[in-house]
Amino acid sequence: MTDLYIIAGVPGVGKTTIGSLTAKLMRTRFIDIPEFVKSERLYTAYDRSSRSYIIDLRALSAALSSAIKEEVKPPIVATHIAFKPRDCKVLRVVVLRRNPLSLLAVLRSRGYPLRKVAANVAAELTDEQYVEFVHKFGRSKVAQLDVTHLGRHKAAKMTVKLLSEGGRGDFVDWISLLEKNNKLSKLLSFLSKYC
Ligand SMILES: Nc1ncnc2c1ncn2[C@@H]1O[C@H](COP(=O)(O)OP(=O)(O)O)[C@@H](O)[C@H]1O
Ligand SMILES: [Mg+2]
Repeated sequence: MTDLYIIAGVPGVGKTTIGSLTAKLMRTRFIDIPEFVKSERLYTAYDRSSRSYIIDLRALSAALSSAIKEEVKPPIVATHIAFKPRDCKVLRVVVLRRNPLSLLAVLRSRGYPLRKVAANVAAELTDEQYVEFVHKFGRSKVAQLDVTHLGRHKAAKMTVKLLSEGGRGDFVDWISLLEKNNKLSKLLSFLSKYC
């Protein structure tokens, strides 16, 4: 069985940036699932309206497992999809979190359709990724890291620590935080317009 680490989070949180730095610090291979899916053609279609690939999960699981089976050190895999690679053991997962308002700005600047922006911001607001990964891999393996106010290097260092030493990481409750700052209702009205 091949061991691996996962860096998760909704699109725009910083998986590619922080994941590649984390892999450098740990001197191991970094695999970014969106790139891997494209280069290995692990999709069944391209959905123009959401501008995303429909991933073939069985093919992805098998292809990833064969791509990493020779690795000496556990590689770091960045993904927004909770899936179990075939014949692999997931050692730990770090779910990156970003304040939904900050995420909204990142996704808008990417030029995503507003429906896609809203869907991802809503997922971040409601802890969707964290819940999915806990469901798949168990609470004890999954930590969260709030990167909203962390530079990429600091975020990568903290990710290394969480992956190698364990721990739960940050407690995240965006709804309470936004409510306290009187920002929740404005965000919810944006979401209700596009979700
Ligand atoms: N810690 C950080 N501080 C500031 N900007 C960041 C940080 N991490 C990522 N970014 C920026 O946020 C955007 C999204 O990051 P990216 O790594 O592409 O996210 P993901 O892979 O999760 O979609 C990029 O423009 C990136 O440069
Ligand atoms: Mg990415």
